[in-house]
Amino acid sequence: MTSELDAGTTPTARSPQSVLSARSPWMRRLHSWLKKTPVNPYWLEMRHLDSAVRHLTGHASGVMLDVGVGERPYGSLFSPHVKRYFGLEYPPVVFGNLNPDLWDYIHVVHGIIDIFGDAHVLPVADASVDTILSLEVLEHVPDPDRCVAEMARALRPGGKLLITVPFVSPLHQLPYDFRRFTPAGLEELLSRYGLEIEELRSRGNVASAAGSMLAHYLLRHWAAKARKHDGSVIMSRWRGLLTMPFIAITQAFFFLAEKFARDDALCLGYSVVARKSAEPSS
Ligand SMILES: C[S@@+](CC[C@H](N)C(=O)[O-])C[C@H]1O[C@@H](n2cnc3c(N)ncnc32)[C@H](O)[C@@H]1O
Repeated sequence: MTSELDAGTTPTARSPQSVLSARSPWMRRLHSWLKKTPVNPYWLEMRHLDSAVRHLTGHASGVMLDVGVGERPYGSLFSPHVKRYFGLEYPPVVFGNLNPDLWDYIHVVHGIIDIFGDAHVLPVADASVDTILSLEVLEHVPDPDRCVAEMARALRPGGKLLITVPFVSPLHQLPYDFRRFTPAGLEELLSRYGLEIEELRSRGNVASAAGSMLAHYLLRHWAAKARKHDGSVIMSRWRGLLTMPFIAITQAFFFLAEKFARDDALCLGYSVVARKSAEPSS
């Protein structure tokens, strides 16, 4: 029996970090409810990521390829906006690191992952896709230049690339966490492949980043008893429970503070809408 509180690796809105291991049905219900509250150290991050992704849905159309679909957390959000939604995953990462137990759940891959492939060599024809979505992926690829070049190749002229990347976020999915991007870095990277930025938005601001960092400090310094190979932590049961209220109060406070903060030189991440120019890039 697992007697630990687990804090996982990937701050996605639909599969947020586990705070309690849950076996019995009522524990499972409590567990999934708690994940949506400020006791979850990823709550501030999840809220901002979720609202950024909801905003991106308005830019999706036609045939959409989700590069690095993971566990397809936003499939139901995008599906009504597009003609076809294809989720692409890279087996060595998804099976080796993202979720080591995924082999046990191989039956669920059907309906989650449509194409196995590498973002560095997308297995799709030139100019065959209307929208490419890639959420919290570019920091995990060894060669983002090559991936963006591939995305630009796969997009039809006028097609849109929708991406999000973290900025203030703990290391995760180790050893596949290679970098963080700045707005200028994103702009420079995308423009090199004929992708013109239409919108670049910060997720949160200095207060959101401070609240998230404090929550991670409480999680990692006070509640955790060990760090796992992928960067996530195993929480001690009692210290975890004692720390939960502090994590909740901290995040609730900074959730209010961010309404009054203006500076986004420090934020939780960025979301970008870029359009492939109609003219071939030189
Ligand atoms: C932080 S997760 C995000 C997953 C999903 N987009 C989400 O928002 O929940 C990063 C994803 O990128 C995938 N990934 C890493 N390297 C990749 C590559 N070379 N090609 C395609 N996907 C890759 C990982 O397997 C992982 O699912």
